[in-house]
Amino acid sequence: MSAFTEANRKAFNDLSATYNSKPWQHKLSAQVSDALQQNRDWLGVRWSKPDDGGRDVRLLDYACGTGSITKALGPYVSTIRGVDVSESMVEKYNEAAQSSGLTSEQANAVVGNLLSDEVSQQLSGPEYQLFDVAVVGLGFHHFEDPATAIKRLTDRLKPETGVLVIIDFVPFDDELARERKEHAHHPDGDFPDMSHTIKHSGFTRQDVLKLYEEGGLEDFGWHVLPDPAVMELKNGTRERTIFIAKGRRSPSAWGKVRNWFGSMQQSMGGQLALRPDSQYTS
Ligand SMILES: C[S@@+](CC[C@H](N)C(=O)[O-])C[C@H]1O[C@@H](n2cnc3c(N)ncnc32)[C@H](O)[C@@H]1O
Repeated sequence: MSAFTEANRKAFNDLSATYNSKPWQHKLSAQVSDALQQNRDWLGVRWSKPDDGGRDVRLLDYACGTGSITKALGPYVSTIRGVDVSESMVEKYNEAAQSSGLTSEQANAVVGNLLSDEVSQQLSGPEYQLFDVAVVGLGFHHFEDPATAIKRLTDRLKPETGVLVIIDFVPFDDELARERKEHAHHPDGDFPDMSHTIKHSGFTRQDVLKLYEEGGLEDFGWHVLPDPAVMELKNGTRERTIFIAKGRRSPSAWGKVRNWFGSMQQSMGGQLALRPDSQYTS
């Protein structure tokens, strides 16, 4: 594990007992949750429906923390897997999932890092593949290499239909610089200084669009929440603007050929036949 990821692990282990305990933290979580629920159709995920014959709809809650995203989207999926680098966060996630009546088949989190050079055996198994939706809630600015993160998460989606959702902050550069400076003069306070766990001081639409396109996603969408998040940090009140980004995993090369063939066939009244070995016959 890199020193930076280790710093995240440690800081979030320490924060886990009080994470989501303060009114501003509840409010932030509710803002994200409401925005996800209100924009559910826009996200373009094939959510669970009462009449879909019990289809398994799979959510990857990456950098899951104590499970805010799982709580927001849990009602619309059937299987949830959480992954977080902090073992204390994972413990809290699993306690919360259990006490809300979910079985570990329905929702379960494990300690892990999909962004490291070597990914653990456990995360290589089928349980951690082919998700309908992968969501990173307020974790993206804590990742060392966003391009790798997008690629690794995209690989875990169902080709053609799986959707990657990132909820994070638009740029707050000046703020972060000021926080770092102010912290040097005010080492005490009740919310710990987390600036050493932050790699990126927010993202623009252009930044994220480029990452999505290069990561193999299409149908990009960007939504900015109307109200800023208000955070009671160590050095006082800070406002952050939150965005939701979404994109669908592109079809494989074979999928593209199949789609192209499908549209040709439609226009020719179904006279063509296509076999997976790419032999076209008329
Ligand atoms: C701000 S919290 C967000 C938690 C949760 N998603 C939420 O919305 O409340 C960021 C989380 O990212 C996790 N994290 C940081 N780097 C990570 C990495 N490389 N892989 C997995 N989790 C990571 C931290 O342990 C922490 O739980």
